[in-house]
Amino acid sequence: MCGIVGYVGPRVATPLLVEGLKRLEYRGYDSAGVAIMNGAGVETVKEAGKISRLEAMLAANPVHGTTGIAHTRWATHGPPNQVNAHPHVSDDGTIAVVHNGIIENATVLKKMLEGRGYTFRSDTDTEVLAHLIEECFDGNLEDAVIEALRQVEGTYGIAVVSSVDAHKIVAARKGSPLLVGLGDDEYFVASDVSAILAHTRKVVYLDDGEMAVVDRNGYRIVDLNAMEVQKKVSRIDWDLGQIERGGFAHFMLKEIFEQPQTLENTMRGRLLDDDGTAKLGGLNLTDDELLAFDNIVITACGTSWHSALIGEHMIEELTRVPVEVEYASEFRYRNPIVNERTLCIVISQSGETADTLAAMREAKRRGARTLGIVNVVGSTIAREADGGIYIHAGPEIGVASTKAFTSQVIALLLFTLKLGRLRDLSILTGREIIEAMHRLPGQIQQILDRSAEIEALAEEFKRASNFLYLGRGYNFPVALEGALKLKEISYIHAEGYPAAEMKHGPIALIDEMMPVVFIAPHDSVFDKLASNIQEVKARKGRVIAITSRDEEALAGKVDYEFRIPETIDLLMPVLASVPLQLLAYYIAVKRGSNVDQPRNLAKSVTVE
Ligand code: AGP
Ligand code: GLU
Repeated sequence: MCGIVGYVGPRVATPLLVEGLKRLEYRGYDSAGVAIMNGAGVETVKEAGKISRLEAMLAANPVHGTTGIAHTRWATHGPPNQVNAHPHVSDDGTIAVVHNGIIENATVLKKMLEGRGYTFRSDTDTEVLAHLIEECFDGNLEDAVIEALRQVEGTYGIAVVSSVDAHKIVAARKGSPLLVGLGDDEYFVASDVSAILAHTRKVVYLDDGEMAVVDRNGYRIVDLNAMEVQKKVSRIDWDLGQIERGGFAHFMLKEIFEQPQTLENTMRGRLLDDDGTAKLGGLNLTDDELLAFDNIVITACGTSWHSALIGEHMIEELTRVPVEVEYASEFRYRNPIVNERTLCIVISQSGETADTLAAMREAKRRGARTLGIVNVVGSTIAREADGGIYIHAGPEIGVASTKAFTSQVIALLLFTLKLGRLRDLSILTGREIIEAMHRLPGQIQQILDRSAEIEALAEEFKRASNFLYLGRGYNFPVALEGALKLKEISYIHAEGYPAAEMKHGPIALIDEMMPVVFIAPHDSVFDKLASNIQEVKARKGRVIAITSRDEEALAGKVDYEFRIPETIDLLMPVLASVPLQLLAYYIAVKRGSNVDQPRNLAKSVTVE
């Protein structure tokens, strides 16, 4: 689920592999390791904890060789310790394997292999692969891997080396991303392009059921029947600078501050100001097809699910097409009402989230058209969807999603404009929305320029053990997202609710220790929200309000206030989430948490 890097070429592999692993650190991991062909055999070095520990071990005992594989693990089977770290090595020591994903029939295979005399050393499912490939090995590594994978159920991205069929990496994918990087007389294998971007921008993405055989002379992609597959070479247009921190203390802070630019990028070339609509080149749907859908289902996880909720509100309000939002993990296990007349919008920053991908495949199976709102170009969801809207937010490295969220909301609004204008949305309303969209990047900049105010607020609340976030209408999902950001990186328990729903339970929690963040801009539900603020204040809660103007109704009722610029209701979520991102960030920093790699979390959850 976490990270894979491999190298074959003329250079010494170890530093390249370690550098690649560091570029993948952002994805979250618990241990790391490398296996290098050192001339005599396969040498494996692995360690629990941070990559810096592995690096120190490698510095003390350097391993020389020009072919190797490396891994960062996010444990699914067995605790994160040295023995369970990858690579895993076959009994005879000739084969090393790194694996992302889960081998579902590991228990059965393990029993079978133990019966044949193999000894297991770790608790992982992955070790099964190492022994199974040895069992199938007859001098040719790719044949052995194919033979082994035929017996495996589950998901995998793997890279394998052998000291017998040396100077070669065999990599295969089913459900876990993998690509081959093409350099000059050197080749890389990686689970994520960040790992190799410093060396090449030319990549070939593997699809499920494909295998790459890579050596110093070139690469071949084959399927699991060993038949050669023709693949296109993609060019990555991300810069190295984009995956580095610049002057910022953390990626998350950098990404929060990039939002004026990233939102500009999401909108670039897509707004038709005069017609009050949007132009979306990748939908792959004619206007007639767009008009023919009876309903829309949006599916996603986590932060992307929050943007989906905002999208639901927008689409229903402006186009009057019924929309359902579903957690991707739930969607596929019920019997959803989805058919050929359904448009299924799938939202994912990474484009690799296993639950979201599975939900999309299920929707397709039921005949729906699928539309991906994705950030990572070339990711699996982007490739498998029938059409899509790239959000163009650039690489998001911080585990806590920030800039992708605001860009997703804007992508959903672009889609809403397009569909709305085909239906009943007036040109005047379309133009008003577009005008407000043009103002947005500058307004975000105004908020960011005042980040010191939020930092002071964070100082005040950094010791809280609970937080409530409340909002109504378009800002209810903002409350959910604000609470998620805080939990993810500061580990403070936080919950988001629709403000009026508080009376039906959560109000019992309110006392002088409970900070309550109200998203209270001057919108169509402000008056109702003001009453909810009174209710909290009457019970001595500590109120932090995100407002957009001086409100008489709030006089004396608010302990801390942060003012954001005014905009139309449907863009408020974008502005209102920025101070909440900053609040979570500064609280987490003040509590000493690892903001970019919070505990237990992975950037992209490629297991179910
Ligand atoms: C966001 O801060 C989270 N780390 C997480 O909820 C994330 O949004 C979710 O896992 C979905 O990821 P995706 O957008 O890449 O599919
Ligand atoms: N299931 C494997 C393990 O627990 C791989 C985990 C991963 O994807 O990092 O070791």
